[in-house]
Formats: sequence, structure tokens, C-alpha cells
Amino acid sequence: MSLLIIGSERADDFYKMTRGLVPGRDVRLWPDVGDASDIRYALAWHPPAGELAKFPNLRLIVSVGAGVDHLFRDPDLPDVAIVRYVDPDLTTRMVQYVVLMTLFHVRRMTEHLEQQRDRRWEYRPEPMPGEVRVGIMGIGVLGQACAQALKGLGYQVRGWSRSPKSMPDVTCFAGDEGLGPFIAGTDVLVVLLPLTPDTRHIVDGDLLAKLSTSGRHHRLPGPVLINAGRGGLQVETDILDALEDGTLYAASLDVFETEPLPAESPLWQHPRIVITPHNAAESATESISKYFVRQIDRLEAGQPLENVVDPSVGY
Ligand code: NDP
Ligand code: OXD
Repeated sequence: MSLLIIGSERADDFYKMTRGLVPGRDVRLWPDVGDASDIRYALAWHPPAGELAKFPNLRLIVSVGAGVDHLFRDPDLPDVAIVRYVDPDLTTRMVQYVVLMTLFHVRRMTEHLEQQRDRRWEYRPEPMPGEVRVGIMGIGVLGQACAQALKGLGYQVRGWSRSPKSMPDVTCFAGDEGLGPFIAGTDVLVVLLPLTPDTRHIVDGDLLAKLSTSGRHHRLPGPVLINAGRGGLQVETDILDALEDGTLYAASLDVFETEPLPAESPLWQHPRIVITPHNAAESATESISKYFVRQIDRLEAGQPLENVVDPSVGY
């Protein structure tokens, strides 16, 4: 009944931490797996394709992250329970990122910083908070927490999901038929979707062109994009084109089609893009290791696992 740590730049830390949490148990660090038939439980982040299929008695995969696209890209992913990581620490950090970037652009900070560099004292009009409509694409665990915080700042909040939702003071839209009206009434688009076959490249030129431009009448210079979901959700050349032709005013991107973002990417240089290195919501090693052990304890005690992924929809 051995535990395995596989993938992740922090694998060593997870290994040490997990061993400390379960001193009596056998924990192994990939690729030193020993007898593959001993492995029952895996903590995984971007495991090399085909590796998890080598453990015939594997019963559970716990994802180091909330997103599980790193698992589903493996065509030989074994058919066992998958649990994704959901934790208040991660959620709070994501809320902070989304609030930070929303305020940054709505308060026109790229322009203020530019002016400061040039020692220019110029007034920039800003919208009243209640005039700004923030649309959250993917109103799940993270999206809902962000919605609460954004409402607290006085913004109008709307959300889009796969299945219909109802949340106090959040205008909810769902499915393909809800996407058009959701986008048409959004000034600041926050993307917190999982990457699945249905959502890949959803943030493209067509979608960005449908964002509301009525914000311009109340002094938001144009629509804003904030993507902290996954890079595969966006078409980066379309985002650059949209910034160039004024379809978008500004963007914050934490995730990219290729990570690390290649040095030659034009995204680095754009004056209205804020780039962060996929750290909108990092998770503490200790919390993740404890979560891994908790799921094993639950499984062994015959209790239901938490945050189980549905492979038929990919998240
Ligand atoms: P959840 O599963 O709780 O929420 C996902 C939301 O997306 C749900 O509202 C879901 O709809 C919606 N959704 C999924 N597919 C579709 C679709 N085809 N059409 C419309 N809506 C859809 O996930 P989390 O909130 O926990 O995390 C979201 C994502 O954030 C992760 O998958 C990960 O990629 C990313 N992430 C990024 C981090 C970073 O540091 N940048 C950190 C953590 C997560 P429904 O409610 O109907 O199921
Ligand atoms: C996650 C991430 O999915 O950090 O949790 O990207």
C-alpha cells in the first residue's frame, strides 16, 4: 500500500513532507518506484505520459493542482479515482490575484505607471465601481469566491458555467446559449475555466470582439481580460491583435499556451499586459501533502473522497 510522488518541481519537498506526515508508511519518489505493484496512491503534477499506467494496483490519483488537464493529456491515464486540490489557501490567493488585477486595470494603473516614468501629471477619468461589470468565465470554487470579493468592491458581477447556477447578486449564465449574453454585458472578463476539449481556445478573437464596449461611455477605456485559468484557453495572437486594434484595453495573463513563456514572445513587451509566471494561486507544500494523506485516510476508512473529478467532462 505504498504512496508515490510523481512530477512537479517540488516533488522532493512533497516527498519529505509526506514522509513526515505518515512515518510508518512507505513513500516513494518517482522514478525510484521499486516494485510497481506496491503503489496504491499517487500525488501527481504533470506526470510523464504513460507512467501512471505502470502501477497495476493504483487506486487513487491526487492532483497537486485544482486543474487536472495535466493528467488528462496522458492517453494511457489509468481508470482510477482522481481527486483535485481544493483548499482555502489556494482560493484566497486566487481571489487576491483577481482583485489585484481587476483594480489595477479599472484604476488605469498601466497608464499611471507610464506617466510616472515620464514625470507627467495627467488626470485619467475612472468609472464608478457600480458601473463596471466583471464577468467570470467559470464560476466554480474559485470563480464564486472571486465573485464575492468583487461584489464587496462595488462591482456588478456576472458568471458563466456549464450547468445553470443561482447566486445572490450575481447574474448567472450557462451553456452555449448563455455565452453570448454573458460576454455582451462584460467589461472585465475573468477567465477561471478548466482546460477541457470544450474550452480549449475559447478566448479567441471572436469572443473578445463580443465584449461590451459600452464601458467606454462611463470612462473605462475598453474591455479588460484577466486569464488565470489555463494558457490553452486563450489564442495569444488574437489577444495581441485585440490590444493593438483597441478591442481590448488591457490584459493580465498568469497562464500561457507554452510555459515558461518563451523569451521571444511579443506578450512580454506589450505595455498593456501584466504577466505573472503561473503563480496566481500557488499552494503550500504542507497543505498539499496533508490533503493527499487525508484522501488516503478517507479511502481506507471507507469515507467518500473530496473533490472528485468527472473524467467524462475532464474537470
Ligand atoms: P471548478 O471545477 O470548481 O470550476 C470550474 C468552472 O468552470 C465551473 O463553474 C464549471 O461549470 C465551468 N466550466 C467547465 N467547463 C465549462 C464549459 N464547457 N462551459 C462553461 N463553463 C464550464 O474549478 P476551480 O474553480 O477550482 O478551478 C478552475 C481552474 O482554475 C482550474 O481548472 C485551473 O485550470 C485554474 N487554476 C489556476 C491556478 C493558477 O495559479 N493560475 C490555480 C488554481 C486553479 P459547472 O459549475 O457547471 O461545473
Ligand atoms: C492549479 C494551478 O491548477 O496551480 O492549481 O494551476
